[in-house]
Amino acid sequence: MKGVVLAGGLGTRLYPLTKVTNKHLLPVYNKPMIYYPIQTLVDAGIKDILIVTGGNSAGDFLRLLGNGKEFGLKHLNYTYQEGEGGIAAALSLAEHFVGNNRFVVILGDNIIEKGIKKEVEVFKKQKEGARILLKEVENPERFGVAEIMDGRIVRIIEKPEHPPSNLAVTGIYMYDSYAFDIIKTLKPSGRGELEITDVNNRYLKEGKLTFGILDGWWTDAGTFESLLRANNLVCEREKRK
Ligand code: G1P
Repeated sequence: MKGVVLAGGLGTRLYPLTKVTNKHLLPVYNKPMIYYPIQTLVDAGIKDILIVTGGNSAGDFLRLLGNGKEFGLKHLNYTYQEGEGGIAAALSLAEHFVGNNRFVVILGDNIIEKGIKKEVEVFKKQKEGARILLKEVENPERFGVAEIMDGRIVRIIEKPEHPPSNLAVTGIYMYDSYAFDIIKTLKPSGRGELEITDVNNRYLKEGKLTFGILDGWWTDAGTFESLLRANNLVCEREKRK
């Protein structure tokens, strides 16, 4: 199982915090944001990791993370995204790295209280396809949202005006290499991006999407409010340790 951390983008929702640096290098309590998703992968037993970055401060990731020694890794892989094209466009850069393997993708601003090891084990036993992790949230309209009927996902809607549930699709996705074939067929959405939600809906349509509910808290950190929330949640967790 390989791992991919998506840490590109311009982080415009956090402007001017992201005017001279990459969002994923901003502090979350006592560590740079990107430490958390890398740790989530490492804790799940994933050691072969690719960081997809981009923008002006891309070189800072190398200076910060090096070969991943702080995480007990021997090596880290990096790739560079030119411009912005959405999560699925960033993910397409991982094709060469992933090859025919299965992989876990985590958005560089997604921070969780606990781990995903059990979920990754479940996915390993899945014959093919994809597995996503959902989490109940108070403001589903900010996320991809799963519509559930009889215990099954019937569709995923990206940032719905009228959310059909309070189950957000977290930025932790497990895929087989078919994901790259799907991405090649995608068209930009209304916000001009190749949407990861379209990838998931395609797996769903083909009957190859499973889901789990994430245990413990989950937050992203891409807006001022969620960045503050992430800081507070991590701070509380560290103090409890
Ligand atoms: C992205 C995805 C969305 C998902 C969210 C999780 O949203 O498009 O489906 O729920 O990440 O963090 P964005 O951060 O691009 O608004």
